[in-house]
Amino acid sequence: MPGPQDPLERFSEIEKLVSRVYFRFSHLFLNDPELRDFWWQMAKEEEEHSSILLACKALVDSHESAKVDPGIAQGKAERIEEQLNAYLGRGTASITVDEAFRIALDIEGSELDAIYSRLVKSSELEIGKTMEHVGVPASVQRRKLAAAVRRFATDPEVRASAEAL
Ligand SMILES: [Fe+2]
Repeated sequence: MPGPQDPLERFSEIEKLVSRVYFRFSHLFLNDPELRDFWWQMAKEEEEHSSILLACKALVDSHESAKVDPGIAQGKAERIEEQLNAYLGRGTASITVDEAFRIALDIEGSELDAIYSRLVKSSELEIGKTMEHVGVPASVQRRKLAAAVRRFATDPEVRASAEAL
């Protein structure tokens, strides 16, 4: 099912998909308060990214002079969406602590964050610069993720990729 054509709307939906992946992890590790809260926080931050993109869309729509290059990130959405839906389609029973981190490392190491910041800046409105500072930046999320991997992951491969993030 193709998503909306507007790149801001489209990637707003993609950020929401990321948040769904993390909410699922939070639910999966419900019996471990630290892990549960860690994933819950990550999910909320992704939800916020989704809202910020929608806010950018509203701004662009209300300024006649502003527009977003419709070709921005073109052809990228589908592949990213497919990957996220594949994660969501997996039986949660098979997802271990390490596996959840592996998935998050894939997501946070993908080009999604670069696309996100390109989109936020794309309106070329002065206010767009403000929007960049709303929400938790991906760099901070990556640091938190790496710290959580160090604390909770046991798989050496997962631990190594967190260091390379
Ligand atoms: Fe995000």
